[in-house]
Amino acid sequence: MKIASIIGARPQFIKVAPLQNEISKRHDHLLIHTGQHYDYELSKVFFEELSIPDPDYNLEIGSGSHANQTGRMLMAIEEVLLKEKPDLVIVYGDTNSTLAGALAAAKLLIPIAHVEAGLRSFNMKMPEEINRVITDHISSIFLCPSNTAAQNLAREGIVNRVHVVGDTMIQCLIGVEKKLSKSLLQNFGVTENNYILATIHRQENTDVKERLEAIIRALSNCKLEVLLPLHPRTAKSIRLWGLEDLINSSGNVKILPPLNFIAFTSLEKYARTIVTDSGGVQKEAYYFGVPCVTVREETEWIETVRDGWNVLVGADEEKILHAICSVRPRSSRTVQYGDGNVAQRIVESIEKDFEELRS
Ligand code: UD1
Ligand code: UDP
Repeated sequence: MKIASIIGARPQFIKVAPLQNEISKRHDHLLIHTGQHYDYELSKVFFEELSIPDPDYNLEIGSGSHANQTGRMLMAIEEVLLKEKPDLVIVYGDTNSTLAGALAAAKLLIPIAHVEAGLRSFNMKMPEEINRVITDHISSIFLCPSNTAAQNLAREGIVNRVHVVGDTMIQCLIGVEKKLSKSLLQNFGVTENNYILATIHRQENTDVKERLEAIIRALSNCKLEVLLPLHPRTAKSIRLWGLEDLINSSGNVKILPPLNFIAFTSLEKYARTIVTDSGGVQKEAYYFGVPCVTVREETEWIETVRDGWNVLVGADEEKILHAICSVRPRSSRTVQYGDGNVAQRIVESIEKDFEELRS
């Protein structure tokens, strides 16, 4: 089979890494990078570190408003699909690259397999929710990371070719786990269990001054050392609203550039608490058994909250501070989002369903 994977943003490079290996064993695998993320630390570093081959195409779309970025992706992806004529397209997660890849393929009647199908926040104000709902409704094969995701699809009438396979990001993490190192903490001036690792990049937080300021105030007022690897989107808003002074005067918040996967996940593993609005980081915190404070109103990874390893606090300074001190797991972790065989299950599911779709 000729399979084209369409990727473009940081979490998608991490998700494609284990699949790239597995697909290439038996199929012709074409990697199409939309160029949505283009800074070295958001893109190329993951290809190098996770041994992902250079993309066959980099469409170099770059940044823009949602319509501008997605529209330009659609045109460029269509051109490649018309030329390469893949039998199947795989899209990952919920970014604008996911939506553009799925739309372009659907209009050319190329079957789509959606990795991370069925996740829902039930908040249609999130660009990611719009992207994932539309992508699911034009896909043919649904690779769900959890039972909850499959149940969400069933509620929307999607019941055929739905497979609960687990999460490839967790497989990627398991793949590098041996390389994670406590000794790396000294490079960041912290010691095990004595610091908070924080990330913020969600549009609802970075594009609303009051929300971003409240999150930064909470981090600045907490007693622990805070490491904050900054997404460029957040760095831009901090500059725009002059929030650097707040950070600099705090003395406890250390701004870092976006980190490579092994450095970042090493910091996750040894943190006292993680504060984030990232989807991937919430489930990695759960995997490591590190309490997580999520600065959002809802999450797609509801098992992490149900088990008490994650609390949803929105962008409320007091609630964030209180949660940092009080988040305690209520039970052991009841789900395993992934293991070492997620990619293998995905390829087997695709092979089986592709035969059915053809007949
Ligand atoms: C995107 C995804 C989000 C995902 C995140 C992963 C969408 C709608 N959002 O958000 O779901 O969680 O990626 O990190 O697809 N920028 C740079 N350098 C880059 C890339 C971006 O400076 O290499 C800056 C630009 O100012 C850009 C802004 O970041 O306008 C936002 O980038 P964009 O790709 O639109 O969305 P993300 O916030 O990264
Ligand atoms: N990540 C990383 N370096 C960082 C921040 C995050 O390698 O500085 C990894 C993290 O371990 C996880 C993924 O990026 O695997 C999450 O991506 P992100 O938070 O950008 O997107 P989301 O998961 O919210 O879509």
